[in-house]
Amino acid sequence: MTAGQHPTVWLTGLSGAGKTSIALALAQTLKAQGQAVTVLDGDQLRHGLNRDLGFSPEDRHENIRRTAEVARLMNDAGLLVIAAFISPSRADRAMAAAIIGAAHFIEVHVSTPLAVCEARDPKGLYEKARAGQIAQFTGVSAPYEAPLAAALALDAGILALDESVARICRHLRQRP
Ligand code: ADX
Repeated sequence: MTAGQHPTVWLTGLSGAGKTSIALALAQTLKAQGQAVTVLDGDQLRHGLNRDLGFSPEDRHENIRRTAEVARLMNDAGLLVIAAFISPSRADRAMAAAIIGAAHFIEVHVSTPLAVCEARDPKGLYEKARAGQIAQFTGVSAPYEAPLAAALALDAGILALDESVARICRHLRQRP
């Protein structure tokens, strides 16, 4: 099999948008279909490989660069990769696409609006960010650049988790 045939599904969106939930449910569905799949998650990688990185633009850039390199290796090894990262910079996502290979990079915008993410606030981080206790928090005191041409946009404030997963699966099946 040619290296790089296996894609990376790249989930981008605000903190609390539902990226991790979609990533884990999608992985479960694809595994049940016999697909070799792995999940790379921002929160998870920041405990190990990327533990030296913070949230400045430079550190986020390095976070995305390392992650894309890992995704590429895993794609080459025969795994479908699901990456769940805020990845707020358009330029950084373009870099990830270039590292992974544009033909194998599937950008999915988890487009849950800020107001919904903030109302959910699953980790209490928005509250802290509004109180000035967390600097450079995406959506509050740091920018999020929405994709201009994502393969899919999924608003997890409206769509059921199953529906989001089904839409990604349909997109994967329809790829050439
Ligand atoms: S990224 O911007 O570099 O892609 P990544 O997805 O790895 O971010 O990590 C985001 C997670 O880090 C958030 O879900 C949240 O739990 C945590 N976090 C801590 N500080 C910040 C911050 N300043 N901005 C965004 N997320 C933060």
